[in-house]
Amino acid sequence: MTTRTVGLVMNGVTGRMGYNQHLVRSILAINEQGGVPLADGGRVLLEPTLVGRSEAKLRELCERHNIKQWTTDLESALADRGSLIYFDAQVTQARLGAISQAVAAGKHVYTEKPVAETLDGALWLARLAREAGVRSGVVQDKLFLPGLLKLKRLLDGGFFGRVLSVRGEFGYWVFEGDWQSAQRPSWNYRAEDGGGMVLDMFCHWSYVLDNLFGRVEAVTARAVTHIPTRTDEKGREYQATADDAAYGIFELSGGVVAQINSSWCVRVNRDELVEFQVDGTEGSAVAGLRDCRIQHRGATPKPVWNPDLPVTHSFRDDWQTVPDNGEFDNAFKIQWEMFVRHVLEDAPWPYDFMAGARGVQLAELGLRSSAEGRRIELPELGL
Ligand SMILES: NC(=O)c1ccc[n+]([C@@H]2O[C@H](COP(=O)([O-])OP(=O)(O)OC[C@H]3O[C@@H](n4cnc5c(N)ncnc54)[C@H](O)[C@@H]3O)[C@@H](O)[C@H]2O)c1
Repeated sequence: MTTRTVGLVMNGVTGRMGYNQHLVRSILAINEQGGVPLADGGRVLLEPTLVGRSEAKLRELCERHNIKQWTTDLESALADRGSLIYFDAQVTQARLGAISQAVAAGKHVYTEKPVAETLDGALWLARLAREAGVRSGVVQDKLFLPGLLKLKRLLDGGFFGRVLSVRGEFGYWVFEGDWQSAQRPSWNYRAEDGGGMVLDMFCHWSYVLDNLFGRVEAVTARAVTHIPTRTDEKGREYQATADDAAYGIFELSGGVVAQINSSWCVRVNRDELVEFQVDGTEGSAVAGLRDCRIQHRGATPKPVWNPDLPVTHSFRDDWQTVPDNGEFDNAFKIQWEMFVRHVLEDAPWPYDFMAGARGVQLAELGLRSSAEGRRIELPELGL
């Protein structure tokens, strides 16, 4: 069977996500395993051209990983007819212009979330891609995490009966940057630079809820900036103008109510950095990034409220661990392989720019809900 090579323009790979998850753990890992397997038994190797703003960083990356091509000129990279796909992991603000350029050059486009900063921008890109006849895709990595795949397995197997509610807890303490350096880039805390918890995380909650539990039909949210000043990468104090926490209620089709707290100002007292508890008539589950625990209706204890007595029962011990029953690959790599198959052999792909626009819609309406102090219904999106 044949092995072919497809060119790929990768922009923003000097950043955290672009480098770790996309370049190293997806593209280079795919090539190491011999390429993306296709339906006809053939394989596809991916040859990246790295694009960025810093010559020195790009050259160093290429030398480190034996990559042949890099440039600081996006236009010349896009003019190369050997490249079929454009990928974007730049800061969110830089994305709209670069993607529209890539679409105009006839590239299929895969991008980090959010697709754009505004719903109008996301829909505009979806329209451009459709009119140009190119394939589009947006990262929805959480769907491919072991913990959420186990949750999906439970849903598909009918474990929950009727799902009643979902409670999500996401977050950890992000240092302010003064006495200990911050572990996330400072642009995330400036609204004018495309930062903010709602824009960052509601895109994720949108596809997690839509795909697992039901379409998000209404949102009630409160977005806040708990820590108003932070210190940046150069040690300069700045005003944190973006929301660093968001408390949301999402009403789903079928009557499921989801509540998700998202915060960079909480200290972790959980097993994982994100956890979802799902309660159904027949059973409940708590899923994190990797693990998932369940409690069946038949194994549910009967607690009696009595604050006068110390708690002697360990409620946590009543839960059972869901086994892996298989190997889990890197979530980003799984989605990359799906996108390559979608481009090359028309394999099914629900994660296009319209799906990405749904995420931006939820973020935009979540922020509006918070600003106006009211519940907001999500209209159906169309082009
Ligand atoms: N899927 C996920 O779980 C996930 C997680 C974190 C971030 N993201 C998304 O990935 C994107 C990148 O986030 P990151 O955390 O890797 O950020 P980062 O700051 O580490 O990297 C940003 C990249 O954009 C480039 N860039 C281009 N124009 C820039 C400008 N004007 N200012 C600063 N940098 C510029 C930088 O050189 C760098 O390569 C964001 O859109 C973010 O929403 C996704």
